[in-house]
Amino acid sequence: MHPTVQNLLRSGAEATDQALERLLPSPDTLPHSIHRAMRHSVFAGGKRLRPILAMEAARMVAGTGDIPAGAADLGAAIEMLHTYSLIHDDLPALDNDDLRRGKPTCHIAFGEAIAILAGDALQTLAFQTLAQLPSPPATTVAILREVSLAVGTGVGPHSPLPPGMIGGQVVDIESEGKQPTAELVESIHRAKTGALITTSIVSGGLYGLATNPGARALDSETSVQRLRTFGEKAGLAFQIVDDVLDMTQSSEELGKTAGKDTASVKATWPAVYGIDRSLKDAEELIADAFTALAPFGEKAAPLKSLAQYLVERKH
Ligand code: IPE
Ligand code: IPE
Ligand code: MG
Ligand code: MG
Ligand code: MG
Repeated sequence: MHPTVQNLLRSGAEATDQALERLLPSPDTLPHSIHRAMRHSVFAGGKRLRPILAMEAARMVAGTGDIPAGAADLGAAIEMLHTYSLIHDDLPALDNDDLRRGKPTCHIAFGEAIAILAGDALQTLAFQTLAQLPSPPATTVAILREVSLAVGTGVGPHSPLPPGMIGGQVVDIESEGKQPTAELVESIHRAKTGALITTSIVSGGLYGLATNPGARALDSETSVQRLRTFGEKAGLAFQIVDDVLDMTQSSEELGKTAGKDTASVKATWPAVYGIDRSLKDAEELIADAFTALAPFGEKAAPLKSLAQYLVERKH
């Protein structure tokens, strides 16, 4: 791994963890079970990629070289949404997984009822955190709208709603056991995973633009559009690689059960195209993602190196 990416990942994860530590109720808060369950999953050792992307997008458009104050709270809120989605994704009624982030899944450690409620509570706390961001009210409302659509029930091209995480999860579950088409897998991936990754980058951009309106390389609308294209490409590439890693890595390396997609006959990119073509597609998407950031010049280097890491990662 390139030393710069390693530093970005480390410092971004530290900033995210500090914000999460402050924002999540302590383990001694009553009722104990739910607050301990929330913390069990949040602090199990995730890569924190979405908050890091949000903070780096904010840094890029703010243009001062620093991550704007408060951007870690935005990242933490997104990580709460992501962790809630993982807790629910692992439930027996969905993917039925025992292992997550190298630890027993939330329902194995705390029981199904508390795991469902811990997911619900993380979602609620995420929106509370977004509502409390120190951005100007119009920016906060724009971020709330952006993020709520991204975790909603849309599935993309044939739907009046933009792609959303829950919409993608629904189609993922309903497609189990069927031979997937290319179009189906793409719409699942853009919705269940691409939408949250895209919104991490776009909401980071909205936040950064509001903190420093003087230092813009492009007008706000163009900046947001470019970030959205970057996020859509990188987000799709991310899920393609997740599908490939499920087939090529061990459970130990992944911190989650390997080979699960084949066993559950999931609609994955390699199920349609095979592993080699999947990796090639992910690389091409990253090249397109880079193109979207060209007008930002050198300031785009951190986001570009993170996007490259998304496809080169081994877990
Ligand atoms: C896993 O996401 C779930 C998907 C959307 C594929 P990550 O690979 O980012 O998981 P953590 O947060 O590092 O555990
Ligand atoms: C998960 O996709 C997407 C969401 C949680 C929204 P996967 O089911 O492929 O994620 P993993 O492989 O279990 O992490
Ligand atoms: Mg799933
Ligand atoms: Mg899963
Ligand atoms: Mg997966």
